[in-house]
Amino acid sequence: MSARGGEPKRSGLTTFVYVAVAVAAVGGFLFGYDTGVISGAILFITGEFALPPTLEEIATSSVLVGAILGAIAGGLLADRIGRRLSIIAASVVFLAGTGVVVVAPGLPVFLAGRVLIGMAIGIASFVVPLYISEIAPSALRGGMVSLNQLFITIGILISYGVDYLFSASSDWRAMFAFGAVPATVLLVGMFLLPDSPRWLVSRQQTDRATAVLRKVRGTGEISGELEEITKSNGVQKAGRWSDLLAPSIRMPLFVGFGLAVLQQLTGINTVIYYAPTIFQFAGLHSAGASIAATAGVGAVNVLATVAAVVLVDRTGRRPLLLAGIAGMVVSLAVLGAGFALSGAVQSGSLLGLITAVSLMAYVASFAIGLGPVFWLLIAEIYPLNVRGRAMSVATVANWGANFLITLTFLTLVGILEQAGVFWLYALVGLLAWFFVLRLVPETKGLTLEEIEEHFRAGRHPRELKGAPGPRG
Ligand code: GLC
Repeated sequence: MSARGGEPKRSGLTTFVYVAVAVAAVGGFLFGYDTGVISGAILFITGEFALPPTLEEIATSSVLVGAILGAIAGGLLADRIGRRLSIIAASVVFLAGTGVVVVAPGLPVFLAGRVLIGMAIGIASFVVPLYISEIAPSALRGGMVSLNQLFITIGILISYGVDYLFSASSDWRAMFAFGAVPATVLLVGMFLLPDSPRWLVSRQQTDRATAVLRKVRGTGEISGELEEITKSNGVQKAGRWSDLLAPSIRMPLFVGFGLAVLQQLTGINTVIYYAPTIFQFAGLHSAGASIAATAGVGAVNVLATVAAVVLVDRTGRRPLLLAGIAGMVVSLAVLGAGFALSGAVQSGSLLGLITAVSLMAYVASFAIGLGPVFWLLIAEIYPLNVRGRAMSVATVANWGANFLITLTFLTLVGILEQAGVFWLYALVGLLAWFFVLRLVPETKGLTLEEIEEHFRAGRHPRELKGAPGPRG
């Protein structure tokens, strides 16, 4: 492996960096677990609290409102108190929210708890990738940051499993209580870990940054890398919100915002949150069959994300995005066609098969590209002094678009029918493909400082080509 920028040769292979990345990625697990757990729990909550459909929708989406709030607050937190303390704060809020939900006597308290949990998820959703990107060696950064997305998908899959286990006893409170385990691991783990060396430099804590770099790189020769970070930081003033309007930041901000919205408007969470409903539309009426199909979706999501983790530092970010989005467009088109033809074909089982296969292909295509690469790129393309704030803007857009899609899916199906809705998502996918083609930079193998330098010079994102060679 060759060295990038001022990084030492053979850098980044310490056990310590792997442990730090794995601990932080537990934040991703929480994200996945607590967005997925509701799908099974809601059946019992609706019964116990006697909820009509509108309140059921509110109970389901309250976590997204919290996530938007958390993502807003997290930007300032991450830049001011640091990445590490922000993640610690998120785990405390997460535990508090879980406690409230578990003891909730009725809907209002339940909603308060879910909003709290959402706030924790909103913070963790971008501060975790941020922390990992700033601690990882550049040649391995893509895979390490994408580990967060892998943990998100594992969290979703485990939530389906836990829901299934406790559904026998109708114990929805236990479903939520389980989330306290990873939250505690995250809290204790982050407490023992140091902050990111780049944030420490930005707060003029050079001695501590030196110590952390030595530890994560496993060598005393970190002066080159430290110098590069310090030099890059030295040309910036302490960040403010208004800095996001600077001409050199406008373009990366637009790229992050666009990817955020497109990641959601191509419809992934209608599948993640409503998979059993979609399978029922397609004629899989038995609960067993639709649960099995849903578990299949979760498993495919995990497996394809593993492929992304392995590939992203070899092929680069853009090829994964372009291939993945192309796959999403084709499978959404087929999915829509399956529904459109169902009247003529009159075959529930054939349609069931087409739905299952195209849905799996869609999820796999998302998981190899847009899923992990969005969260990765927004952790790479902003300058250190406003990185937290800029990521928070993209993250708010992401949760906002998620909220919109989740709330409108069933209504849209009523208006456009299933086929129309999936074709609409396919059309957005087409737009996403051209967006990536024209505007998204290749960051593979470059140091964060090299990326920053490119944008500071006012150059177009597409002129950033990544480091040559399979691994920088
Ligand atoms: C990404 C998306 C999230 C989605 C998940 C599914 O993390 O941001 O909204 O639920 O992928 O794997």
